[in-house]
Amino acid sequence: MLFMKELSLYIHIPFCESKCFYCDFLSFDNKSDSIEGYINSLCAHIISSRKVLDSVQVNTIFIGGGTPSILSAEQLKKLLYCLHENINMNYVKEFTIESNPNSLTLDKIKVMRDYKIDRVSIGLQAWQDELLRKLGRVHTQKDFLFAYNNLKNEGFDNINTDLMFSLPDQTLEMVEETLYNVSTLDIKHISFYGLTLEKDTRFMELCDRGILNLPGEQLDRDMYHLVCDYLTNKGYNQYEISNYAKNGYECKHNLIYWDAKEYLGLGLGSHSYYNEERYHNTKNIDIYNKEVFNNNIVKYNIEKIDAKAKYEEFMFLGLRKTKGISISNFKEVFGVDIKDIYQNPINELIDKGLIAYQGEYIHLTKFGTDVSNKVLLEFLL
Ligand SMILES: C[S@@+](CC[C@H](N)C(=O)[O-])C[C@H]1O[C@@H](n2cnc3c(N)ncnc32)[C@H](O)[C@@H]1O
Ligand code: SF4
Repeated sequence: MLFMKELSLYIHIPFCESKCFYCDFLSFDNKSDSIEGYINSLCAHIISSRKVLDSVQVNTIFIGGGTPSILSAEQLKKLLYCLHENINMNYVKEFTIESNPNSLTLDKIKVMRDYKIDRVSIGLQAWQDELLRKLGRVHTQKDFLFAYNNLKNEGFDNINTDLMFSLPDQTLEMVEETLYNVSTLDIKHISFYGLTLEKDTRFMELCDRGILNLPGEQLDRDMYHLVCDYLTNKGYNQYEISNYAKNGYECKHNLIYWDAKEYLGLGLGSHSYYNEERYHNTKNIDIYNKEVFNNNIVKYNIEKIDAKAKYEEFMFLGLRKTKGISISNFKEVFGVDIKDIYQNPINELIDKGLIAYQGEYIHLTKFGTDVSNKVLLEFLL
């Protein structure tokens, strides 16, 4: 059989019921009237990408947001039908959709199952309803359990939940309560993110006014270590800085990003890494609809990924994985020894106890993980 290039697909749904106070993802909370038109544009975008889609083997698909579960069952069906019509699904090894608890209804879950989605992510963020309100979330812990039980009853096995720590007014005990309750469920994958304060969010505004009660640096680290230790004890493998999975349930799609492999982004603002270029689609929904209508999807902020950028990305992204990067894989990919490129930073970071060797892998130490942003910068050439 002819060798076909492997590719992952990311599909963006830029709508939410309301905007959470911490979130700067590309999503609108006041455009529900635009959803139908957007799905039509997205389908046209998928069809116009046929040339690429026909020439590759699509390995993973990730429908993210925003909140994909905000689509009605009919809109979801339209999108999924279009994907099935235009992609050879035989090669797809993982098909994920993101959801919010209150919009993940039974009729949509059935559509997801009928159209072969096999991994569902539910954003819970925290167990305590009071904390959820402070985050601007529009669901409760009960909504989460209801959605989770519906998924299980409909036969979904590969379920992820998104959680967050270092939140305003969150205590170590609250993180532990979240961990305790989530780990009593049969959840195969957990993403547990530390809060990042983003520009132009409600939280940033409150922080600027000095009225956001954030945990200090020490408590932030204590929370992170609690999460790592607790989940490891419960049989989850921490395979990336913020990601934990039961054996065999590591997210194949996210591993594509960390392994610096190629993916195509379809939909508003989606990013792509394809044919040695990184770029994104327009973030303006009116321009997007026009570009699709004119069959002229423009690539924005094209960045050519030359040899130097490839080395950097290999290290930068690969070291996010707990296993780290493989020395032999570096040689295989680039045809040069890692020491020829990174001898100095490797020696210095090992001396400081920030990275270490394990067999033929180099990985961040526990200490290095705590200051990972600074460590990774050392690999910029
Ligand atoms: C695309 S978003 C959300 C998907 C879905 N709409 C939801 O809210 O669950 C993916 C995840 O990123 C995390 N996230 C978003 N903003 C964040 C921030 N400022 N800091 C840390 N994690 C964040 C949240 O855990 C969120 O669930
Ligand atoms: S966290 Fe999810 S629901 Fe909240 S605004 Fe961001 S994308 Fe929307």
